[in-house]
Amino acid sequence: MIDKCNLRCTYCMPADGLAWLPRSRLLALPEILRLVRIGVRDLGVRELRLTGGEPLVRADLVDIVAGLRAEHPRLPISLTTNGVGLEAKARALAEAGLTRLNVSLDTLHAGTFEKLTRRDHLDRVLAGIEAADAAGLRPLKVNAVLMRGINEDHAPELLAWALQRGYELRFIEQMPLDADHGWRREDMVTAAETRALLERTHRLAPDPRARGGAPAERFLVSLPGAPDRVLGAVGIIASVTEPFCADCRRTRITAEGRVMSCLFSREETDLSALLRSGGSDAEIADRWRAAMWAKPRAHGMDHAGLGADGFVQPDRPMSAIGG
Ligand code: GTP
Ligand code: 5AD
Ligand code: SF4
Repeated sequence: MIDKCNLRCTYCMPADGLAWLPRSRLLALPEILRLVRIGVRDLGVRELRLTGGEPLVRADLVDIVAGLRAEHPRLPISLTTNGVGLEAKARALAEAGLTRLNVSLDTLHAGTFEKLTRRDHLDRVLAGIEAADAAGLRPLKVNAVLMRGINEDHAPELLAWALQRGYELRFIEQMPLDADHGWRREDMVTAAETRALLERTHRLAPDPRARGGAPAERFLVSLPGAPDRVLGAVGIIASVTEPFCADCRRTRITAEGRVMSCLFSREETDLSALLRSGGSDAEIADRWRAAMWAKPRAHGMDHAGLGADGFVQPDRPMSAIGG
């Protein structure tokens, strides 16, 4: 939707922000509606997720949701947001037809939140989550990234908080998608470590339901003294240590209208030039499809030699790709 963001998470953005795309380069509402129409009709898209940067920074986000909903009455439409501007918009988004939300939250401690996001906005995020819950945007999912020595010890507390409120928490392994290129494999809190951290306080049993193409491995959570009383579920997304590329069915369109076949793509296929120069729906669909067929295997993420002969970090940080 947009590459701008109002936080500066260390695993994503540089402290000073980035050179934002000018408004004229962002896909406009009619262009978004047209691409989605083509995606649904010609490429078999069955579900939409709106992301950023921070999608709520786009002033017309509610109109985008309403426009999409008017054309696709039954399509699941979800949003990935940092929650900062959510309190004011949750109800309007629900009324416009948003199906559900994923909110990013890495800690419940204001000082640590500020250290991770370089902004003092924890209270706004918590108020946003409450407003979304009150507006019926469920199931509400919470995405957390654990950073070694910063918030890893907060994981059990975050889990208890989410279980108590009926939110589904998912921990995402930190991926090499930060603007500063500071990611180091040895610093990453792995999925296995995350599970061990949570098992200090909770009991995790693999969810017997099929995972499908979902990025998260789900666990049913109970307390050690009462293993049969399931309190909820938690997900662990092992993007680095156990890439799930073979099951991935996603196609991504950046804010300026380029197809990325994967989060880690280094090649992008522009659709905006076709959109803006009178290209037909069939031409746009063909180019989009071709971009997906050209998806390379795991982008080197499955190589043992990550960073050497294998994976090469894309120039785009997460904020310019979307979750
Ligand atoms: P629902 O659609 O809400 O069930 O959730 P989801 O688990 O698909 O959620 P979401 O799209 O928010 O993805 C959660 C996180 O998984 C993202 O923020 C990424 O960090 C990671 N992720 C999503 N898609 C991919 C992908 O194609 N490749 C990799 N490696 N990670 C991904
Ligand atoms: N590694 C893993 N997850 C990340 N996110 C942003 N950058 C990274 C990264 N480098 C998460 C955000 C948000 C989602 C869109 O992706 O925390 O939950
Ligand atoms: Fe943080 Fe998401 Fe903004 Fe990146 S885009 S700085 S992860 S809130």
